[in-house]
This record gives sequence, C-alpha cells and structure tokens, in this order.
Amino acid sequence: MKRVTKAIFPAAGMGTRFLPATKANPKEMLPIVDKPLIQYAAEEAAAAGITDLIFIIGRTKRAIADHFDKAYELEVELETRGKLKALEDLRGMLPVNVNCIYIRQAEALGLGHAVLCAQPAVNDEPFAVLLADDLIDGEPGATKQMCDLYSYYQCSMVGVQHVDPSETGSYGIVATSPLAERISRVNQIVEKPKPADAPSDLAVVGRYVLTPRIFHHLRHIERGAGGELQLTDGIAELLKEQQVLAYEFTGKRYDCGSKLGYLEATVEYALKHPEVAAEFKDYLEKRFCASCQSGKGT
Ligand code: UTP
Repeated sequence: MKRVTKAIFPAAGMGTRFLPATKANPKEMLPIVDKPLIQYAAEEAAAAGITDLIFIIGRTKRAIADHFDKAYELEVELETRGKLKALEDLRGMLPVNVNCIYIRQAEALGLGHAVLCAQPAVNDEPFAVLLADDLIDGEPGATKQMCDLYSYYQCSMVGVQHVDPSETGSYGIVATSPLAERISRVNQIVEKPKPADAPSDLAVVGRYVLTPRIFHHLRHIERGAGGELQLTDGIAELLKEQQVLAYEFTGKRYDCGSKLGYLEATVEYALKHPEVAAEFKDYLEKRFCASCQSGKGT
C-alpha cells in the first residue's frame, strides 16, 4: 500500500488576470489577509502528512523560495525588538520534517508541462498537486481528504465541485458514474468545453492525487486548449488504462485566480482572523448600513 508523501505546487503561470500585481511576483504570493496563497497550500499539504513540497517556479522565480527560506537577519531583528510572537510564527511556518524543492519551468507551456517538470523529484511515487490559487477552507483540508482516500482506493483522483453550467469553459469537466458518497468514477474528462458540449457541470478544481503513470502521458500529449500542454489531456489518456476517481471534497473553495474570488476570500478570512475580525466586521456593518440608508447601494 502506497501513501502520498510528495506534493507539486505549480506556480509558474503568467497570472495575466492579476497584472500588474503579478508582473514581478507570482500570483501564488498574493496575500489573503497576512499569508500568501502558497503558504495556505503548503500548510494544507503538510497537514495531510506530505513531507516533500515541490514548487514549480517560473519567471518570477525568487519570491517563493525566499518565502520558505530561513530568514536569519529578520529573526535576529524580531528577537532584538522583542517581537516574540511574530518570531514564533515565522519559525513555525512549516513543520521541521518538511523539505522544500524548487524546480524551474523555463517557459510557461501549460499546467501539464509544469507537472511534468516535477518528475525527477517525484520518481515512481503517487503525488498530490495543489493549485494554490484555488484556496480551499476545509477541516480536514481537501488534500488530507484525498490522500486518505488514496490510501484506500490506490488510484488517481481529481477534486471536483459543481459549477454553474455557463462556467464550464473555465474548467476541466468530467462525466462520471457514482461509486460511493461524494466519490464517482470518471468516464470522460474534457478541458474547457463550451456549455453546449460539456458532459456535466462537475468541474475539476485545483486538487489532484495522481499515480506516476501520468508522467508517461504528459510526455506524449500535444498542445490543447489555449495552445497549452494541459494536465486534463494527460488525465484523459491515463483514464484509458487506469481508474480515475472524482471526489467532491468538503470545504469552501475560493477561486483566487480571479479578482472576485480573491476579494471574497479576503473578506471571509478577515472575518475569521483573530487580530482584525471584530473591527473589520464593525467596519463592514457601518459601511453597508450607510449605503442602505443613502439608498445608493455603494
Ligand atoms: P492558470 O490557468 O490559472 O493560468 O494556471 P495562470 O497563467 O497562472 O493565470 P492567468 O489565467 O493568466 O491569470 C493554473 C495553475 O497552473 C500554474 C499556475 O501558476 C497556476 O497555479 N501554471 C500554469 C504553471 O505552473 N505553468 C504553466 O505553464 C501554466
């Protein structure tokens, strides 16, 4: 029985929807309140028992590695100034048994290509993929839910959720047959179909557990939707020889690759943040009360 101990974090996309914020910084470094998206994802993976975190970095290569590196000067400075809580948080960012590995994707050829870049670090083991711009607020985290299921089913799995039928063109969409509660067998997977061509409204969102056989298929796929090497197309090939499951994880997902989803996540996480929740709630109440009274809805 194999357990999942490795996770890939593709973070080499262009992030065009967030320009100019993503011109010199990857979108995975955008903060939700006080933590970058990539850190939420790394914590979710660590909580699932993953010990090797493999970051695929691109053009804006330094920020993510710098974020997870030990910052000696900053630590000394915090200690000198007596900011011990900040120091403790900084030191405890990730468990000590976790290794961070950085791999460069020299050209943003697509998510499928980004995952393929991690093969030398994954070898012949099952692995998770987390797209940090899909922030999932769940307990246990979506990755732990899926890794636990992998321990039982020992096959590839995609995290899915129902979307509005008008939105199928933004996702990989699966056709499935039910297997157990929240779990179904994938019969077909298509990248970004038009609503009229979509086989269902069940969309793949940014969590996967995959067997290493996917690398073979990713090496052979051709450019697909958007001219990119798509992970979905690799999974479609994998499906011809291995079972792939779709799992409707529990938890609320925010699409932080879009401005609206990012703002929603910011508001919801701020309303739970121990330092600012009360004052922020107060601010929102006053703000909305004022706009109701003025009748302008602004
Ligand atoms: P997206 O489809 O969201 O693309 O990538 P993007 O380029 O990051 O953002 P937009 O659409 O231009 O605003 C999904 C995930 O795959 C990674 C991204 O970093 C993101 O986590 N990715 C995408 C890569 O690592 N490499 C690529 O070549 C493409």
